[in-house]
Amino acid sequence: MTDFTNKVAIVTGASTLIGAGVVRAFAGAGARVVMADINEADGKKVASELGDGVAFRFTDVTKDDDIDACIAFAEKQFGGVDYHVNLASTYLDNGIHTSREDWLTSLNVNLVSAMVFADKVAPVIAKRGGGAIVNFASIAGKVAQPGRMTYSAAKAAMLQVTRNAAMQLRPRNIRVNSVSPGWTWSNIMVQLTENKREKADSVAKPFHIIERTGDPAEVAAAVLFLCSDQASFITGTDIAVDGGYTAIGPEGMVDAVAMLAE
Ligand SMILES: NC(=O)c1ccc[n+]([C@@H]2O[C@H](COP(=O)([O-])OP(=O)(O)OC[C@H]3O[C@@H](n4cnc5c(N)ncnc54)[C@H](O)[C@@H]3O)[C@@H](O)[C@H]2O)c1
Repeated sequence: MTDFTNKVAIVTGASTLIGAGVVRAFAGAGARVVMADINEADGKKVASELGDGVAFRFTDVTKDDDIDACIAFAEKQFGGVDYHVNLASTYLDNGIHTSREDWLTSLNVNLVSAMVFADKVAPVIAKRGGGAIVNFASIAGKVAQPGRMTYSAAKAAMLQVTRNAAMQLRPRNIRVNSVSPGWTWSNIMVQLTENKREKADSVAKPFHIIERTGDPAEVAAAVLFLCSDQASFITGTDIAVDGGYTAIGPEGMVDAVAMLAE
């Protein structure tokens, strides 16, 4: 594990399970972290557990003034910024029936705000000689899923803007990559299963080669790797942290050839 002592990260969407997993991983590796989220209650709870090196800052990523204030806070509190993680998201989505207003809200939170934030934080990262940005994409940006449209479109676009941003931020010595989680143990799963991890794992089993949901810590490990010097020649790409979800073809994990002989 890389030592991130004296490094500073801003993580948006940091308050719930996956975001907090990224924050915990950074803090565990010695980094100081600004948690930028609109969920103040959960965010402050996580920050208070992790001590003085982690600070919650209320930040609505759709508001330019909030983004500016968050970056200024990171500079004042911790002396600068080295890494930025765009994780904030909304599942607001009604498939093809999504209203124009909801389309625009979804794209604003899930996509546009990430690039506005990246543009604003890049000069600050450059002041420290460069660093890295990690965007959260998803399996949802690679394949169709029932009932989804706006979220998937935003995540597919996230994969593309990652490539563009990598090219455009190269002069500032900033690498830009994304992670695409598969089904990950997260707030929505806690709610839907009434906190039964075994149930989430058994539903996820048939369509993940690793036959379970992922853990926030497993996603966080990929984020930290992409920020670390070990990833010094990696930019403009995606790491699938999806337990093999996107490696499986239409036959699933069924031995269809064997079925021919039955
Ligand atoms: N849960 C999964 O299985 C899964 C799978 C693939 C990708 N992902 C991605 O992982 C990330 C986290 O997902 P999650 O399931 O934990 O979602 P979540 O809804 O629990 O967390 C999203 C966070 O973003 C915050 N947020 C929402 N709007 C915001 C705004 N305007 N400004 C600032 N913060 C805002 C929320 O308060 C919340 O803390 C997302 O980018 C998601 O697309 C999740």
